Amino acid sequence: MTRALSEIDLTIRRGEIFGIIGSSGAGKSTLVRLINLLERPTEGDVFFDGERVTDFRGAQLRRLRRKIGMVFQHFNLLNARTVSGNVAYPLELAGIHDKAEIARRVATLLDRVGLSQHADKYPRQLSGGQKQRVGIARALASEPSVLLCDEATSALDPQTTISVLDLLQEINRDLGVTIVIITHEMDVIRRACDSVAVLEHGEIVEGGAVSDVFLHPQHQATRNLVREAEPDQGVANPVRDDAAAGRRLRLTLLGPASRQAILSRIARDHVVDYAILSGRVGHIRQQPYSQLTIELSGRDVDGAVAGFRAAGVTVEPLDAPPSAGTGAFDGEALDHVA
Ligand SMILES: Nc1ncnc2c1ncn2[C@@H]1O[C@H](COP(=O)(O)OP(=O)(O)OP(=O)(O)O)[C@@H](O)[C@H]1O
Ligand SMILES: [Mg+2]
Repeated sequence: MTRALSEIDLTIRRGEIFGIIGSSGAGKSTLVRLINLLERPTEGDVFFDGERVTDFRGAQLRRLRRKIGMVFQHFNLLNARTVSGNVAYPLELAGIHDKAEIARRVATLLDRVGLSQHADKYPRQLSGGQKQRVGIARALASEPSVLLCDEATSALDPQTTISVLDLLQEINRDLGVTIVIITHEMDVIRRACDSVAVLEHGEIVEGGAVSDVFLHPQHQATRNLVREAEPDQGVANPVRDDAAAGRRLRLTLLGPASRQAILSRIARDHVVDYAILSGRVGHIRQQPYSQLTIELSGRDVDGAVAGFRAAGVTVEPLDAPPSAGTGAFDGEALDHVA
């Protein structure tokens, strides 16, 4: 017997965009299939809206599945049906027979995903991004409260990926739909998710707010995934030639702090110099961040460190061995992992 998942203890909060990341074979698809009970756990329980649903069957199960929309990597569209026909399909399955009602709801859904102009086209006439928009409109047809997206952007180019992730964020914001994004790409998590769980060999090895996990990965599996997204992070401990080494620090600036001239102000105030050894700059969802490895030398290095901290900068000394437990994954400390 293959044990695809074990020790999974996961709580996804209503209204959030939750990412599940892991490399191929980690168990991501198995985990989503447990959420909508396409697969049942051999041990343990699944709760939805506070209700234990593990043993749901028949009408109860169908009702549950209608609340959970699903978006697939390869779109899974019906090629013999038009765009409208694909989006209408789940409505027909749900027993809606009123043609005008179906047409009205399909039009609203196509408008939502920006495909009104393509209603009468067939899947073969669409780009990958457009096909996925059909997939999303179809998943929304039953007015689900949760949308499960299993590698929904993995078949798309980077620009199309961004536009589909933007659409998912819009849906989350405007309709309040909880979204679960399964991916093997950290960039997808960084762009779209509030929280993330990292899956490796069927277990959750790390989890929390994306800003914590992305900027301070603790587990090797997470570091590898971050490194794929940020190739420069491969240089763990950049070495400088000159022997007059100062104190090596990693500074993390998140939100408004990353837009302020903190380095030069601290350098001036404390009469220190800094050399930037490596860094990364970008956004986590809408929030700007910068993370810099610097070497600090001069008159008042301790004062400068205190000054950084007072300005809201996270300062990690890099020379000392990392202390145990600092932000490491700890089920107790993270409110989304019960
Ligand atoms: N029905 C099954 N029977 C036996 N083994 C299975 C079954 N489904 C999945 N597995 C195994 O469980 C593990 C997790 O598979 P899963 O498809 O969930 O991974 P994944 O993270 O989605 O991978 P990918 O990124 O390639 O889609 C793999 O080792 C897989 O071979
Ligand atoms: Mg999979």
